[in-house]
Amino acid sequence: MALSDFTGPDYIDAWTRDLDRRWPEREAMADCVVGTLVQWRDEGGGEPSGEKRHTVIRVLELGVGAAGLARSVLDALADAQTGDSRTVAGSPDSVEYTGIDIEPALVLHGQELLEKAGHREIRLVRADLRDDIWTERIGPFDAVLSLQTLHDLGGIDALEAAYRQLHGLLAPGGILVNADFVVPFEKDNPERPRRLPVETHKGLLSSLGFIDFRCEMQQGKMACMSARRP
Ligand SMILES: C[S@@+](CC[C@H](N)C(=O)[O-])C[C@H]1O[C@@H](n2cnc3c(N)ncnc32)[C@H](O)[C@@H]1O
Repeated sequence: MALSDFTGPDYIDAWTRDLDRRWPEREAMADCVVGTLVQWRDEGGGEPSGEKRHTVIRVLELGVGAAGLARSVLDALADAQTGDSRTVAGSPDSVEYTGIDIEPALVLHGQELLEKAGHREIRLVRADLRDDIWTERIGPFDAVLSLQTLHDLGGIDALEAAYRQLHGLLAPGGILVNADFVVPFEKDNPERPRRLPVETHKGLLSSLGFIDFRCEMQQGKMACMSARRP
């Protein structure tokens, strides 16, 4: 069901609860996105020597929804900063978080939620990922994340276009983590599939120059996949 199917003062939370109820694997996927990002950061964030290099981690999320993933990522990166082994004395990391969504109500909701939770450097933007315009005047990013969104763009051509845009927006060594449906639904048009198998994601990303593709986890109808920009 779409956001517009819900009403009442808590309609955004009701919509998210409905997503979680219909696809219980979302929780494991969100954990996988967060865990993959934290591990990438702890391993040096793309620095070949493994030395920690970031003082600011620039994160982009596509299809931010009710900002649940954003909150988990921001909390996890904040927690990671407190570990002595992961912190360079005198230069704690900060996170700049940019989120894109097509729904103005979600952009407003997410911005308020994250600011109220005490997170700074949050920039949620209303944009349509099927355009090219949203990529102008943003980036580069160290990490790009997405949960249950890219299948909504409409199929393999749109997915390839988005992955190409992300390759352009990522800094060298940056990581892409995308968790999405990888099994078709019965209602899907087999002539125009939009929930595409892991191998298709791998092929697209490799052809665009991404490296180190990994299927981090597959559960239910979804998979959490990562790749890096060299
Ligand atoms: C199924 S929801 C997932 C939301 C969130 N990532 C989560 O997992 O809770 C898909 C999200 O993608 C957004 N979305 C869909 N098509 C989009 C587009 N063309 N451009 C930007 N956002 C889009 C929707 O508004 C929605 O917030």
